[in-house]
Amino acid sequence: MILGATNAPVTTMEWTMSHLLNNLNALEKIKAELDFHVGHDKLLEEADLPKLQDPKLWAEATSFKPERFENGKKFEGYYKMLPFGLGRRSCPGMDLGHRIVGLALGSLIHCFEWKRVGLEKIDMSEGKSLNLLKAKPLQALCRARKIAKKLL
Ligand code: HEM
Repeated sequence: MILGATNAPVTTMEWTMSHLLNNLNALEKIKAELDFHVGHDKLLEEADLPKLQDPKLWAEATSFKPERFENGKKFEGYYKMLPFGLGRRSCPGMDLGHRIVGLALGSLIHCFEWKRVGLEKIDMSEGKSLNLLKAKPLQALCRARKIAKKLL
């Protein structure tokens, strides 16, 4: 469980960051959203995550509506890609995984400027492994933003 609980979120973040570094407009959009909703005087917190939900994917995204998960109802997007599996053996850490990935990735983007090491795009080939590691581990350059210097 320790391996699954650490490996899966880290691998998810590595793939996501790789996609973002190949799509810098999306990375900038996330940074702007973090600057707008979280600001420059504090780090990203769990309470900020709902403000960063995509309102197109969630009905009344900014309202507290726990009943949206009633009767095991999940966001239907999960069932398109099955990132957490399905059924009785599906991932019991799904909610925690969402929070870990959202907080860690959001904090990395909020506190650092990221860019690719060279001009060429990040290699997105899959390695040969059970848990879908990248063939070439991600390498990227980062520089602390003012907020990191101020807060850390
Ligand atoms: C982004 C994060 C994560 C992803 C993508 C992920 C994905 C998965 C997947 C695909 C499975 C297999 C489901 C199946 O066999 O159908 C699984 C199982 C499991 N995951 Fe996760 N997981 C994540 C985070 C976590 C965390 C944070 C924990 C624990 C704190 C955790 C604990 C487990 C356990 C214990 C199982 C085995 C369940 C069983 O076999 O009954 N996972 N996970």
